Amino acid sequence: MHEPTSGRGRRHGTSRSDPFDRWFRYPAGFASDYASLLLNQLQLPTAGLVVDPFTGSGVTGTAARRAGHSFFGVEAHPLIAELAALKLGRPVGDPGGLLAAARGIAERVETTKSSIDLSGEAELTLRSFDPTTLTVLIKLRNSIRKQHEHEWNLYLKWALLATLRDVASVRVGWPYQRPGSQRQPTFADPISRFLQRVTWIADDIRSIREVESNSLTFRVKQGDSREARNWAEIGEGVAHGCLTSPPYLNNFDYADATRLELYFWGDVTSWSQMCSEVRSDMLTATTQQTSVGAARDARLSLQRYGSVGPLINDLADQLQKERGNRTRGKEYDRVLPDYFVAIGRILENLATVLSPGAPTVLLVGDSAPYGVYVDTPGLIAKMATELGFTLEEDVILRRRGQRWVGNATRHNVDLAERSVLLRRN
Ligand SMILES: C[S@@+](CC[C@H](N)C(=O)[O-])C[C@H]1O[C@@H](n2cnc3c(N)ncnc32)[C@H](O)[C@@H]1O
Repeated sequence: MHEPTSGRGRRHGTSRSDPFDRWFRYPAGFASDYASLLLNQLQLPTAGLVVDPFTGSGVTGTAARRAGHSFFGVEAHPLIAELAALKLGRPVGDPGGLLAAARGIAERVETTKSSIDLSGEAELTLRSFDPTTLTVLIKLRNSIRKQHEHEWNLYLKWALLATLRDVASVRVGWPYQRPGSQRQPTFADPISRFLQRVTWIADDIRSIREVESNSLTFRVKQGDSREARNWAEIGEGVAHGCLTSPPYLNNFDYADATRLELYFWGDVTSWSQMCSEVRSDMLTATTQQTSVGAARDARLSLQRYGSVGPLINDLADQLQKERGNRTRGKEYDRVLPDYFVAIGRILENLATVLSPGAPTVLLVGDSAPYGVYVDTPGLIAKMATELGFTLEEDVILRRRGQRWVGNATRHNVDLAERSVLLRRN
């Protein structure tokens, strides 16, 4: 057994090889072996309920299931919420049926010689693959879409979506897809890679069928975890623990980061649709998401959070000044208040659903836009103590150096990812 690593060495995202994590690589904050280790250390009651307000691809959920717990999570990104729900849903039958369906589709695609119409494809799709690969991918997609009522349809869809980055001939690493920058595809043959991915999914499903207990429940709700109504179905004071990784300040635009999959599948056809349908429930963590009005309201709302409000407003003032010193400065000063108000609302919702004494672990990094140090984990912990939690531990998981910041924000501040352990009073 290898050492759990919290994803060390994997710059962004889940493990490429661990069961369930390997279904699709998403910037997850941690890998499932680390989530398992943490859940184990928290010593939750047997068959407890674990929650995650930033469910993402469901790493906490699958680790909770492995540890014999139930899970409830909220995720804003519709496509990623679908993935997490799929991983955590009850399998629809013997995965032999999935393998058979995938082989049938692959065979049809290999033997159909008809040409395909590319006129409806997004620019990003057209530029990301060589023409032969693209033809095969589209035939696979059309074939899967055609069988939308097939019981294994969503699993086939995800095996194909995860194949896209494997076979792209341009740089498609996280967080930005760069269709202008060529690369050698990691895998040459889309059909065999798709089948490989289906095999992994089938193997992982088999592994849960062997251990699954009927008394446990797993649920992923697509929506905004700031909204109390998205937590209503689990009731008050019933959850036994929380393990989560919030978006880091100015890290990813999670909608943009999944543009390739969204455009390819046809969920989204324009940037405005991306903003209105994919991003709408997400908290503000990047300058692309800000607005003057939201930032002004947030500055006022921060007053609710005791001494931490003025600290955040003071940082926003410093950032506003830095922006003023630049010709086309970025609006970090608008991100900050909105981000922390959102975190405050989510902590309030957690305080409602967690039982007294329940632990909450947040894995989150600090940041230093324009060299102004923002101690995100420390500020979150301070807010939490105003909202019914006690801080038990705040430890560095790994140092990040300056690797995560772009040229525009280069600075000399050492950054770290930290693990913050809170306990519900
Ligand atoms: C660091 S990722 C967490 C990934 C997760 N640990 C996993 O297993 O993939 C943060 C997630 O929070 C989601 N998110 C952002 N704002 C949200 C909100 N208001 N409500 C629910 N989810 C949100 C993002 O879409 C993203 O998937």
